[in-house]
Amino acid sequence: MKLQDSRVLLTGGAGFIGSHVADALVAAGVSRLVVVDDLSLGQLANLEAARRAFPALEFHPLDLADEAAVERLLGAEQFDFCFNLAVIPLPASLIEPKRTTDRNVLMTTNVCELARAGKIRRLIQYSSSEVYGTARSVPMGEAHPLEAETPYAASKVATDSIALSYHRTFGIDAVVLRPFNNYGPRQNDKAYAGIIPIVANRVKAGAPISIHGDGEQTRDFIYVGDTARATLMLAERDDVVGEVFNVGSGKETSVNALVGLMVELMGQPEYPLEYGPARPGDVRRHLAGVAKAEQALGFAPEVSLREGMAETLAWYRSRA
Ligand SMILES: NC(=O)c1ccc[n+]([C@@H]2O[C@H](COP(=O)([O-])OP(=O)(O)OC[C@H]3O[C@@H](n4cnc5c(N)ncnc54)[C@H](O)[C@@H]3O)[C@@H](O)[C@H]2O)c1
Repeated sequence: MKLQDSRVLLTGGAGFIGSHVADALVAAGVSRLVVVDDLSLGQLANLEAARRAFPALEFHPLDLADEAAVERLLGAEQFDFCFNLAVIPLPASLIEPKRTTDRNVLMTTNVCELARAGKIRRLIQYSSSEVYGTARSVPMGEAHPLEAETPYAASKVATDSIALSYHRTFGIDAVVLRPFNNYGPRQNDKAYAGIIPIVANRVKAGAPISIHGDGEQTRDFIYVGDTARATLMLAERDDVVGEVFNVGSGKETSVNALVGLMVELMGQPEYPLEYGPARPGDVRRHLAGVAKAEQALGFAPEVSLREGMAETLAWYRSRA
């Protein structure tokens, strides 16, 4: 299947990664692009570039967990592809675990039901490296045990399984993409913000930076534009249905090294750091095994952490 001239449904498209996927879909020449997002964390401003390039982009402020509303809005449509990114994020699950898991599952079952009814031909289900928990061995390939530490991660294990079970039971065409830590322009810097937007804003404001734990916990950081590119490559492949693909950089970076790079690029290498208690459920070590995406898709990230971070920080500056 090709994206050019295809009809696409994108959930969570006003969010961070979703808006970059929207840009990439527009560049790929889709003929119809329906974006749904309840704007609980996403922002319409994130879709400005996509809308400028493709004025026919249709946006609906839909609650994807509301089955009746999903059926009313989308039930009469036929989509070639659905990119399912809508999610309630990890930090929310530390405060409202039941609401986070319930709603994350509902959002995916509602999309899977559309696919089961033949209204979506191919589902690209967004997973998360959080499903693995702390690395038992590195690099973490797709066969690494699933040992979710947080309710958010558990909801992602559940939604991966749901998408794949609909493939096995009902024959829907589904593939699971499992990104590691993304960074780049438009990452949510408000409620439940991640470390990169927090550090960028604190340094700008001259406020202290507080790091959870000793800062030696590691992550695999990938530039969001690379993830969007991998997403489209995966979507167009007919031979990967029913499979799971990690999307990461294959490089391990500690939080201390990440923050060090950020303050250096912001011209304040001696910026003081404070260390607080570790966050509950924080995974200790993450490094993506990327061989499968490399071999099957020919995917390799193009943007280094230094380049991508410089661009990201320039974006935060431009918004000041
Ligand atoms: N950012 C990362 O580093 C990362 C890493 C691994 C996986 N992921 C996955 O990538 C996807 C996108 O994440 P993101 O970082 O762009 O998050 P994000 O919060 O920026 O985007 C998620 C979007 O979902 C929307 N949403 C939430 N509840 C909704 C509902 N009930 N109905 C409709 N829309 C709803 C939010 O408003 C938001 O715009 C998620 O599935 C996430 O699990 C992200």
